[in-house]
Amino acid sequence: MAWPTIDRQSPVTDSDAPPLLSDEVKAKIRSFFERYETRRAALLPALHVVQESLGYISWRAMDEVATVLDIPASEVFDVVTFYTHYWTKPRGKKTIVVCRSITCELMGAGVLLEAFKRHLGVGEGETTPDGAYSLATEECLAQCDHAPCVLINEKKHGRVKPDDVPALLADPDNDKLEVPRSDLYDPVLGEDATTRPRGGERKG
Ligand code: FES
Repeated sequence: MAWPTIDRQSPVTDSDAPPLLSDEVKAKIRSFFERYETRRAALLPALHVVQESLGYISWRAMDEVATVLDIPASEVFDVVTFYTHYWTKPRGKKTIVVCRSITCELMGAGVLLEAFKRHLGVGEGETTPDGAYSLATEECLAQCDHAPCVLINEKKHGRVKPDDVPALLADPDNDKLEVPRSDLYDPVLGEDATTRPRGGERKG
């Protein structure tokens, strides 16, 4: 299934009717309010919570975030489509992000991206037919001293060579975090974010 990482030309539609934000997600977003002087300032963590919960941020979800924060939906849309780390379409169970900024580019990120494309059989912005992986690029992943860098979900991999790609893809723990994440976004559903279903699936 092909999907755009960022598509500023086409309107975001809700034809696939993703789930609405749960009460838990809304409560988590509201819990951020006391940290900031305005509700608007809680937008970025709120969007992370939504993405962690649903796997991506649909137009309908943006609208609901706007309601919770009491800001125009257009502001939420502007922010979601500005940052490449927010997704507006369903993605695979795991998302591979190859850094495309200058240090990684100089250290071979372009060749590395081609290796991922070849082994996954998909292009940038696409998902494998089995839904296992989506492939994308983003700007600096803040690990320039380990260039070229790759993220698999939230796990960073540094100094990745094209020859490493088959073993990396075969490793079932390639997205497993060694250091627990901050509890800023994780406790929404009371489970490990690395095992949470993606693509809008919800546990019954
Ligand atoms: S340029 Fe790739 S991590 Fe900074």
